[in-house]
Amino acid sequence: MSTPINKTWYKEMSVYQIWPRSFCDGNGDGIGDLEGVISKLDYIKSLNVDAIWFSPLYTSPNADYGYDIADYRNISEDYGTLEQFKTLVDEAHRRGIKIIMDLVVNHTSDEHEWFKQGRADKNSPYHDYYYWRKGKKPGGKKPPNNWKSLFEGGAWEYDADLDEYYLHIFAKKQPDLNMSNPAVREEVKNIMRFWLDLGVDGFREDVITYIAKREGLPNGFPIPAAVGMEHYSGLPKVHDYLTEFRKEVLEPYGAFTVGEAPMMTPKKAKKYIEEGGNQVLDLMFHFQHMGADCIFTDWIVTPFSLKRMKKAFSRWQRGMYGTAWNALYLENHDHPRIINRYGDPLYRVESGKMLAAMYICQCGTPFVYQGQEIGMLNTERGSFDDFKDVMAHNMRKTFRSFGFSEKRILSIANKATRENARTPVQWSAAKNAGFTAGAPWVGVNPNYTEINVEAAENDADSLLHFYRALLKFRKENELVIYGDYKEHFKSSRNLYVYERNYKGRRLLVICSFTDKPVKLTAPKGFDLQKGELVFQNYKDVTAQGNTIVTKPYETRVYLFN
Ligand code: NOJ
Repeated sequence: MSTPINKTWYKEMSVYQIWPRSFCDGNGDGIGDLEGVISKLDYIKSLNVDAIWFSPLYTSPNADYGYDIADYRNISEDYGTLEQFKTLVDEAHRRGIKIIMDLVVNHTSDEHEWFKQGRADKNSPYHDYYYWRKGKKPGGKKPPNNWKSLFEGGAWEYDADLDEYYLHIFAKKQPDLNMSNPAVREEVKNIMRFWLDLGVDGFREDVITYIAKREGLPNGFPIPAAVGMEHYSGLPKVHDYLTEFRKEVLEPYGAFTVGEAPMMTPKKAKKYIEEGGNQVLDLMFHFQHMGADCIFTDWIVTPFSLKRMKKAFSRWQRGMYGTAWNALYLENHDHPRIINRYGDPLYRVESGKMLAAMYICQCGTPFVYQGQEIGMLNTERGSFDDFKDVMAHNMRKTFRSFGFSEKRILSIANKATRENARTPVQWSAAKNAGFTAGAPWVGVNPNYTEINVEAAENDADSLLHFYRALLKFRKENELVIYGDYKEHFKSSRNLYVYERNYKGRRLLVICSFTDKPVKLTAPKGFDLQKGELVFQNYKDVTAQGNTIVTKPYETRVYLFN
């Protein structure tokens, strides 16, 4: 039985995520830019997506590649100008593509004017834009509390001139904004208005559940990592601030929002995204299905558990259906490539297709990350000198403190680093993968001669064409968008099978997560001989009656009208 669902544009769209530095370089300086993006708009359109989410394009000293913003009202010189951005918005809109900006307001850069002025003068109104506090002992000998930053040691940085510390949950160059100050909230609303007036259609809100800190900033529970998190993650005030943003800005503009929410559960998410009076965000990015091969962070690796992954997906599918809406993703700029994690590089195209069908056929708005559509893979760095990310260097220190050898740390880092998602998009087999005419700012994955857009365009069986077809099929079938969800064979360690149902039509999605053959009989009520096989990753597959023996990482999607 399908629960009635409110139909809305953002539920029907699919989104392509661009991490601008590595997408496409238009001016030959080795760094991706807006000119490059504009040159690829037709390609993006051809994927059958309806929107682009841009990781930060703003002016930034790049301590965290754009997630440290020095000017919220300008485009980074690396990427171009505001004028070019306006052209991009117009060109995208002309093609029916919406633009979603990243909004990073948990913290700024320490090079932002607010921070610089508040640091130079305690009496400046900007001082209270941040969390400046006296230490527990004078002279920088003991910070105000025991919180740890997620990126760089302790969460407090001492300033000798002021004899005060400032709070940074992320890197030292990312001081946290004091959202309890109404002036800061006014600034945030005005920043939103600025971009909405330029024509953007919505925001992806960075670590939005961290924007409120517990009053008094008490000590956190002394665990090995993320000390203090219970005092800055998901506090009730977050909802108050987001209500203000929604009522005063987002609702009047009809803007879309997806909030990034670490440690989120379906129950907690309902507070933010349940449709009706108290809704403050349209969607949320949770992390639960990204924990099927690790614990808490990608860096603490465990063997992949399909059951863990299925449980997470199903919990959210059931939990949101009819009352809220899911954000579906497998890759973004913060995680290694998914084929290396949940698929198998030896079956790159097959397992890539299986993973695509597995998540895109679920109920929710799908997000596809640059390069995912051609099955880009992780890459190896020979030494820590080749790592650019502040997080990787921090993790190196952490592992060293636990006594890990350098060799071992490097091997962990190569698998776990988010830099795997940040190598240049491989456009062709030409020099530098066709990403730049200059010297790329970061190494291109050497496999670009084989794995690239041009090769995929010329191969009718490529993953790229599969993504296109899948996203088109979703767009054209309300069953895939609005149908309900039921999982089968829950206890299977190798198969993920689920059905969707809508107005008498049904979809059966079969995914194998192993290279070994698995025999399965279709769930009760399905006659495979009567279904139309709409997606498959092997040619000439058949079913013996209602029974299938799967090929490596096989997927089949059957439609029953
Ligand atoms: C989450 C972003 O996705 C990540 O890339 C960034 O480093 C942190 N937030 C800090 O802004």
